[in-house]
Amino acid sequence: MVHLTQIPNANTVNAPLVEGMKKLNLATPSQPDLFTTSVYGSKFAAEDLPKHEIPESEMPKEVAYRMIKDDLSLDGNPMLNLASFVTTYMEKEAEDLMTESFAKNFIDYEEYPQSADIQNRCVSMIGRLFNAPYEDGAAAVGTSTVGSSEAIMLAVLAMKKRWQNKRKAEGKDWHNPNIVMSSAVQVCWEKAARYFEVEEKYVYCTPDRYVIDPEETVNLVDENTIGICAIMGTTYTGEYENVKAVNDLLIKKNIDTVIHVDAASGGFVAPFVVPELEWDFRLEKVVSINTSGHKYGLVYPGVGWVIWRSPEYLPKELVFNINYLGADQASFTLNFSKGASQVIGQYYQLIRLGKHGYRSIMSNLTRTADYLSDSLEQLGFVIMSQKNGKGLPLVAFRLNPKAGKHYDEFALAHQLRQRGWVVPAYTMAPHTEDLKMLRVVVREDFSKARCDSLLADIKLCSQVLDDMDKAEIKRQEEFIKAHVSHSGKAKHNHPHYRKENHSLQGKTGKTHAIC
Ligand SMILES: Cc1ncc(COP(=O)(O)O)c(C=O)c1O
Repeated sequence: MVHLTQIPNANTVNAPLVEGMKKLNLATPSQPDLFTTSVYGSKFAAEDLPKHEIPESEMPKEVAYRMIKDDLSLDGNPMLNLASFVTTYMEKEAEDLMTESFAKNFIDYEEYPQSADIQNRCVSMIGRLFNAPYEDGAAAVGTSTVGSSEAIMLAVLAMKKRWQNKRKAEGKDWHNPNIVMSSAVQVCWEKAARYFEVEEKYVYCTPDRYVIDPEETVNLVDENTIGICAIMGTTYTGEYENVKAVNDLLIKKNIDTVIHVDAASGGFVAPFVVPELEWDFRLEKVVSINTSGHKYGLVYPGVGWVIWRSPEYLPKELVFNINYLGADQASFTLNFSKGASQVIGQYYQLIRLGKHGYRSIMSNLTRTADYLSDSLEQLGFVIMSQKNGKGLPLVAFRLNPKAGKHYDEFALAHQLRQRGWVVPAYTMAPHTEDLKMLRVVVREDFSKARCDSLLADIKLCSQVLDDMDKAEIKRQEEFIKAHVSHSGKAKHNHPHYRKENHSLQGKTGKTHAIC
């Protein structure tokens, strides 16, 4: 998530890091201090890194590189970041191809027709993977995006416009559109609804159901519903929502609305692990699907995809024909320029791995997740995610309330952080927000051996916490709240926008790990 940043004032800019310290005035060098010795012998190594004002003069490229690299070394190790779905490993050949394409602006179709064609090939392959109709005059359409969030914004716009057009044609009121979705939706759904003025109608989770109930979902639909969102792999527990049950109920009850499937993570997992599961265009009410190429599509961030069943579901007035440097191109995006590298990286993965390669990787991940899940259960944790390919390869777990531990999931996450692991703790969706949980996303580079190292550290950290007394745990909890959690540290969040109370998080305390 990109953060909204406040431009700091003079007091903040000039504040010393250690209170009471004066700025260091080093002796003036005897000769002009150019970059003549080494990075760390240069004047730059003894100065603050420019943070607020663009410096007046240049710095040697070797110094700039080293200073920024050193600064970034305090970031976590992506390999140990088990919080994120986003790809942290690609082969060197893929990296080379992507690096070689950095300078290509993807939107410049005329200049880079091959890159544009590569996108079309990816759309075709992903559309077919989702069983999009393409024969007998059918014409499924799709596009690349920056990620699932942009894909979802486009899909919501398409559903809204189509619903409005229909209402106008019928001479009915078209001013109060709503969308039906789970309260466990990723924040991009809240954004899409708010930005495009669509009322959010939530199907709430319960303490023992973390996905939508199909009956309740369908019952929320009314004449103003632009569509239903069903999630193939919720961000919280990775469980697949029952798209088929929603589809079948809509048909049975003869309800005229459509389904969009948010397959941000599951789009590249379910077709390979549970190919028989019907969740995609095989279901007639499913009219659009998004997926993140940068999650289980196995590409570095950011690339996403959105496919529509047919042009009927993507109203013409949303698509712009852009004559760019002489060629007419149909465009449906939220922004204009973007790099071509990610789309090229996606094409590399699709043809390099093929279906067999994806199947092997996703099956291994599912096996590792099941092993982790069983081991954690054995250690006494309560497992909240599914196994055997019934959900994403992730493990969501919590402390057993019957075990009467005097610490919570956040304390365990903090201990694991001391060992380098990023295993996020968060609270469940509204109406179940009392449930705290931890989540490990099993990604391509999380092998069985690494899984065993994690298990050993979970055992160790639990032991450390068991041995601490209540007062010590309480002190640690307060310390985490004040200093360690990102929100405690984040000085750059604009105070004006802090503690908002319009979102599900603001209203109910819903949080979830990053994606
Ligand atoms: C279910 C779901 N939908 C949408 C998104 C947003 O995806 P992206 O980060 O690709 O914009 C996520 C992120 O994890 C997600 O889990």
